[in-house]
This record gives sequence, C-alpha cells and structure tokens, in this order.
Amino acid sequence: MNNTQTGKKRVFSGIQPSGNLHIGNYLGAIKNWVAEQHKYHNVFCIVDLHALTVPQDPAELYQKTREVALLYLACGIDLEHCAIFAQSHISAHSELTWLLNCVTPLGWLERMTQYKDKAAKQESVGVGLLDYPVLMAADIILYDSHYVPVGEDQKQHVELTRDIAIRFNNLYGETFVVPDVLIPKAGARVKGLDDPTAKMSKSSVTQGHALRLLDPPDVLRKSIMRATTDSLNRIAFDPENQPGVYNLLNIYQAITNKSQAEILAEFEGKGYGNLKKQVAEAVIAALEPMQTRYYEMAQDPAYIEQILKEGADRVRPIAEHRLRVAQERLGLRK
Ligand code: TRP
Repeated sequence: MNNTQTGKKRVFSGIQPSGNLHIGNYLGAIKNWVAEQHKYHNVFCIVDLHALTVPQDPAELYQKTREVALLYLACGIDLEHCAIFAQSHISAHSELTWLLNCVTPLGWLERMTQYKDKAAKQESVGVGLLDYPVLMAADIILYDSHYVPVGEDQKQHVELTRDIAIRFNNLYGETFVVPDVLIPKAGARVKGLDDPTAKMSKSSVTQGHALRLLDPPDVLRKSIMRATTDSLNRIAFDPENQPGVYNLLNIYQAITNKSQAEILAEFEGKGYGNLKKQVAEAVIAALEPMQTRYYEMAQDPAYIEQILKEGADRVRPIAEHRLRVAQERLGLRK
C-alpha cells in the first residue's frame, strides 16, 4: 500500500454507516470505484465517528458499520486493491483532528453549507457537527491521499481539506499531500422515485423513495412501478420537463451501459408501464447477484470482523507515520 513502491496514487473515500445504501450510491459511486480500483491504492473508510455528529442508536450504528463493509465487498470492491476499515479503529484520525483543530480558523467551519443546513434543522448543535470537516480532512491527509472521489455535495469539504493542509504546510513545513477532489464524470445522479427533483436519500424512510441495495425484488419492483412520472406520455431524456421519466431512463442507462439512442429505440412507441417494467427487471438483475453474495458473507459474523481488522491493520502504519510527522513539526516529539 506504499505509494512510492508501486507508483500508484492513493484514493481515499469515506461513507457514513447511517441510513441504507441505495442504487444511487451504487451507480453514482461504488460502481466507479470498482471499475477504477486497479489503477490506485484505495482506502475506503466507514466513517463511524462522523456518524456520531448526529444522534445514533448504538446497536444500529454497530450493525450498519458491518453492513456497509459487506456491501462494498458484495459490490465488487477487491481487497487486493482496497482496504476497508472502520474509522474508529484507527485512533490517529481523532488525534490528527485535534492537531488540525488548532490550525483551523473557526470562520472556515462556520461557512460550510452542510453545517449550516444541518444546524438549522436541530435545536441543539453539538461541537462535533461543526468540527465534522476537520475530521474529514484528517481522514484524507493521514493517508497522503491524492484523490478523493465524492459527490458534488462533499466538494466544499475537500476544498477545506486542501486549505487546512496548505495552511499547516505553510506554518510548520511540508507535511501533508494536498488532495484533489474527483467528481465522477460518468455515473448517474439518481433522484428519488417519489420526487425526481430531489437526490435519492440514504436516510429517507418513505416507502417508494429509494431503491435500497438490500431491498428484495418485489419491493424494488413495487417502488419502480409506483415511481412519479408525468402525463406527457413520451419517452425522452428530458430532465427539465420529464424529471421522473428521465430518472428512470438514467438508472436504466447506468445499469445497462447502453447509449441514449439505443435506449430510445428500445422504448419507442411504448408506454410508461413498459418502461417501468424493463427498468425494474434491469435493477433486479443487477442487484440479485450482489445480494446473494452479501447474504452468504453475512452468515459468518467473524468474517466481517476479520475484514475490518485486517483493513485497519494494513493502513494503520501509514496513518501513524503521517501523524508522527505532524507531531514532530508541532514540537510534540522529536
Ligand atoms: N462526509 C462524507 C459524506 O458524508 C463522508 C466522509 C468522511 C468522507 N470522511 C471522508 C468522504 C473522507 C471522502 C473522504 O459523504
């Protein structure tokens, strides 16, 4: 996993073990990671400490952390190229966060749009919610990461990470790699089936909103058949006027890898019922093998503990080294 030994650059990404992973997470992120994984050293962190910035049920947090790890593997993340681990298993994340806190101006954090949105929705705001992006910066720069593949909504946090790394380097000497954000070009921006103007959400509990990776086939089918469309009765890739139909076509395209022209030819002269049926069958066919692998692995709880432990053991030396260098720079050790 050493950058210098193989010349491969390091990719780091994190996902919160809250809510339910859905087809938007798969088509917009995980599928790309799997396709590109051989090009990099990849570190995929399940950010359980970030999840704590809003109230969590402890038993559920524990279970979801394991579920996410198994889903990654079931989706094709290959441990030859990737390490999967839980953030809380490597204490350097928390330790570096403190050091970075001390070089980060408060105003930088108060400006973050995600913080402002989340804080506005809560009566009482924990310090952790404000500090969330500093922990994220620590995650990334602990591993000398070059690339951070994330969705558009996390871009501001990666830019802040760069600012923090640059500031530390300026104040104390070259210490951290300044990472670049990697926004996937390809890959669908999947919307909610019930509301095709809003991004599909991990935390929504409304039936028929998300297509969850672990939904059984009949639930997937039902959600798609009930998806919001329009009354134009026209099959076209038109996000402005037909967001619901566009969303279904977009999902179909991302799954089948067909061109827009091929897809339009396929559905020409057919109704929305037919479109939905086809999309449902494509989604089910794509998810079923993944679900089978997931449930096979899930039968052995010791297996997942081993994966998480080996993942953490493999990358911990990288993080500890970078933390030590930061401590030296700050005068905490020699
Ligand atoms: N904030 C990210 C999200 O909610 C999760 C995350 C935490 C992350 N640490 C990270 C993503 C480091 C990329 C790199 O999606």
